[in-house]
Amino acid sequence: KIETSHGGLEEGESLTSRLPTREGWWKPSFLFQGFWLTPEVIRSTVLMQAQFRPRADDIFLATYPKCGTTWLKALAFTLANRSQRPVASHAHPVLTSNPQDLVPFLELRPIEELEALPSPRLLSTHLPCTSLPSGASTLGCRIVYLCREPKDVLVSSWHFTNKVNKDFHIDLGKAFEFFCEGVSIGGPFWEHCLGYWKQSMEEPGRVLFLKYDEMMANPAEHVKMLAEFLGVPFTEKEESAGVVEEVVRLCSFENLKSLPVNSTGVSDRIGGLPMENASFFRSGKVGDWKNHLTEEMARKLDCIVEEKLKGSGLSF
Ligand code: A3P
Repeated sequence: KIETSHGGLEEGESLTSRLPTREGWWKPSFLFQGFWLTPEVIRSTVLMQAQFRPRADDIFLATYPKCGTTWLKALAFTLANRSQRPVASHAHPVLTSNPQDLVPFLELRPIEELEALPSPRLLSTHLPCTSLPSGASTLGCRIVYLCREPKDVLVSSWHFTNKVNKDFHIDLGKAFEFFCEGVSIGGPFWEHCLGYWKQSMEEPGRVLFLKYDEMMANPAEHVKMLAEFLGVPFTEKEESAGVVEEVVRLCSFENLKSLPVNSTGVSDRIGGLPMENASFFRSGKVGDWKNHLTEEMARKLDCIVEEKLKGSGLSF
């Protein structure tokens, strides 16, 4: 038995048998703490919530899947470590490691691995803010949240799930229906965004809310903002030496996609689901949904999202 931080004792293995379930995008999904997750993620999240001890200087990189997690990991790692790992170094870790491996997933990695990390820790998560370790907000742990235009998230997720699951195929129409119903992996998408959005409104110094599309339009400004938020602002000397632009270039889609460490090989990061490293780098474009969704689909999803976000001040 595991004592969960969100109330009561749960048996890790049988937990899902007591949760609402329905056919999901990829596998049967279970409603856990308000979001549709796979049994594997629920079990590892329950463990994390029971055992993980946040530290006040932890920084969480939070994303809904396919919103630019890989990019955010590369940027945050590069910025936070640049005093020991000069951005221009030919041996920079971003050149030799997939960004997924530079910042571990809070809910997917063994607790001992996370415990062994030196402070300040960078940890990534796809969990909604309400499922983060209890204590993280009272301790003042900072959060960077990156979201993305929902139609692009849908298309990116659809490509990704069909690519990484060899014996699985979902057609776009079905994926679209699930997404609109909120039953995408880790959905509802809009609830995920809204949770972090509200926190960022209440505590702007603790939660930085970023949008993929805006970052793509102006990466240098966002890199500076991110550095500031991480507590490692650029010095004037760095700015005039062009370090901001070097970070942008090092972590750009084109550069990351071209690196052998990202364009070849297969890694099993979550256990039982080997993925090609290249699957994290597809087209890296804003508005690619136009190549896949009909106008009617786009209108329908826009209406749903607009309705769900109404009054929040958040829009896409
Ligand atoms: P597309 O499928 O639209 O190309 P995540 O990292 O959360 O899984 O998100 C993956 C999406 O981010 C994919 O979008 C991927 O191509 C894009 N991506 C990966 N690296 C990127 C980078 N350095 N800059 C911009 N987009 C990137």
